Amino acid sequence: MKVNKIELKGFRNINEMCIEPDSAVNIIYGENAQGKTNILEGIWLFSGLKSFRGAKDRELVGFGNNFSKLKLDFEAFSRNQKAEITVINKRAATLNGVTLPSPTAMMGKFNTVIFSPSFMSVIKDGPSERRKFIDAAICQLKPNYARILSEYNRLLQQRNVILKDISVNAQLYDMLDIIDEKISVSGQAVIDWRKEYLSTLTPFIVDIYGGLSSGREEISFNYVKKSDERNEKTLSDILKEKRREDILNKITLAGPHRDDIEILLNGFSARSFGSQGQQRSCALALKLGEAAVIEKETGEKPVILLDDVMSELDVLRQDYILNHIKDRQVFITCCDPSAVLRMLGGKTFNISKGEIV
Ligand SMILES: Nc1ncnc2c1ncn2[C@@H]1O[C@H](COP(=O)(O)OP(=O)(O)OP(=O)(O)O)[C@@H](O)[C@H]1O
Ligand SMILES: [Mg+2]
Repeated sequence: MKVNKIELKGFRNINEMCIEPDSAVNIIYGENAQGKTNILEGIWLFSGLKSFRGAKDRELVGFGNNFSKLKLDFEAFSRNQKAEITVINKRAATLNGVTLPSPTAMMGKFNTVIFSPSFMSVIKDGPSERRKFIDAAICQLKPNYARILSEYNRLLQQRNVILKDISVNAQLYDMLDIIDEKISVSGQAVIDWRKEYLSTLTPFIVDIYGGLSSGREEISFNYVKKSDERNEKTLSDILKEKRREDILNKITLAGPHRDDIEILLNGFSARSFGSQGQQRSCALALKLGEAAVIEKETGEKPVILLDDVMSELDVLRQDYILNHIKDRQVFITCCDPSAVLRMLGGKTFNISKGEIV
């Protein structure tokens, strides 16, 4: 997967810009608020998903413009391809001249992985962020998983409705038996998929994190199931065991919707004990690991977008990023141009007021 050319018109603070990037490392640098992240956002939109900043489509259109136009020439699956996105109130996309039914139809056609500062929440915040990460990563690769996950969530809602009323309606016990049988199957499938993904992801991350820390730190993961510290029960066992408590609390207390993925550095929780640089390295390793799994599954290396990844990292870690992930295309934004000097090869773009200078 490679961007050959990207053109942005009337997009955010960019009036008109054309970039022909290097096939390996590209650095986009400049002062704050000049348009660096906007460029990454423009590339990202071709993945078919909405903005990684959670922006509404119409917010993408540059002030004073009626629409934005984004054009991408890219190489994927050994073919040169062209895609276009027009944003008026909503996004619309074409691929190789054909209008797509929806921009999400770009999914799987142009793969990118983005690290943005908001992704730090996967390390710093509660378990739901880590569940979101792993679920999104699997969904991207296996549409079947998205179906199972939404089935589980639907059953979970039904179960919780039953738990609310069961104390005043004993007839609901039969319904609870039926729903527990079903939810045990789909919930166990969610757990199994996540564990399988984690076991594919782990060796890549161990390798990347080892490189980032010059072999001084070791990263590892644990899939942590609520009410199953020793990791030996099935979801069906857990639901049976917790049933009384669930009825008392009127909510399902255990299951994949409450599980966590513990991230450890040299055996200690990265969330509780990691330094800022270590936490950033972990988040970055997760993203680069995600990219490696996509490559393994699809045979294509996704384009990597790293927004403001350099800050808080020491020179050794920065150099690893600059010079050791160049077998794929990477776009890196930063404020400090000194990183540019340490880069071996690649292209640099200095951005000021939405223009390349
Ligand atoms: N729809 C829009 N129209 C015009 N300008 C916009 C629009 N949306 C955002 N901007 C402006 O774009 C500017 C650049 O934003 P961007 O996030 O790309 O900056 P940046 O170079 O990444 O800065 P930083 O180093 O602080 O992250 C901001 O000043 C913002 O106000
Ligand atoms: Mg930025």
